[in-house]
Amino acid sequence: MTDASTQTLDATPEVPATAPDAGPTREGIPVLSLDHVSYSYTKGGKKIFHDLSYKFESGKVYAITGPSGAGKTTLLSLLSGLANPTEGEVLKGGANLAKLDRYRFRSHDIGVIFQSFNLLPSLTVAENIILSIDASGKKFDEPKKDMALRMLERVRLKPEYAGERILHLSGGEQQRVAIARALSYEPSIILADEPTGNLDLSTQDDIMDIFKTLAHRENKCVILVTHSPEVASQSDVVFQLAALRKRRPATR
Ligand SMILES: Nc1ncnc2c1ncn2[C@@H]1O[C@H](COP(=O)(O)OP(=O)(O)OP(=O)(O)O)[C@@H](O)[C@H]1O
Ligand SMILES: [Mg+2]
Repeated sequence: MTDASTQTLDATPEVPATAPDAGPTREGIPVLSLDHVSYSYTKGGKKIFHDLSYKFESGKVYAITGPSGAGKTTLLSLLSGLANPTEGEVLKGGANLAKLDRYRFRSHDIGVIFQSFNLLPSLTVAENIILSIDASGKKFDEPKKDMALRMLERVRLKPEYAGERILHLSGGEQQRVAIARALSYEPSIILADEPTGNLDLSTQDDIMDIFKTLAHRENKCVILVTHSPEVASQSDVVFQLAALRKRRPATR
């Protein structure tokens, strides 16, 4: 799926048609939706978004692009329940996220990968992953150490890395651990802010392969913020988040 459809997310975009080759079992199910969402950081302050509506489906990789300051990170914080829309609703399935237990949503249903990784540098790789399994409060039959090793395999890191401290890893390796940690409690939605920033092109391709596998084989909904044209071109749907405020002075 290299021919990503490009949309401008500055009003109410069309919901993209399901991919033509998608059979009934592969059809995406809306997992997160924006329903007429507007947002400003302060009451009556500048609007970062105005009236955004969209449905994010399982089984797809979405890339959100746009100039610095367009509101990409802000959009991820709304989708991850860290902030509430000023107007409109973010829906998980059909339920208003603002009314759900957002701690549970964040620790169970979504895996968030921050640009700065937010790994604990003095702990080992396995300890970082196990910490997030513990924080989810989910119960698994498999021993946590085995789960951690399985997550490393998914992000193509050798098992020897399990006992390595984060501060001994390269940027690309840390990025893989951050993804492994986000996957550790099996969330159905993955959100990532600039997941391939500062990585060379081949590592970037490798990381994108992981995200594509998660969406296309494991039916997860993957939403990435990126400045990279290569990442955008490898995604199924590309949003260009227009800078609303920058266009305003054009009105005489
Ligand atoms: N906590 C905040 N309080 C007030 N304004 C904020 C806050 N965080 C961000 N903004 C403003 O909101 C706008 C959008 O910021 P955001 O971080 O979402 O942009 P971005 O598209 O992620 O940019 P970049 O590509 O540089 O990361 C910016 O103008 C920024 O100054
Ligand atoms: Mg940002």
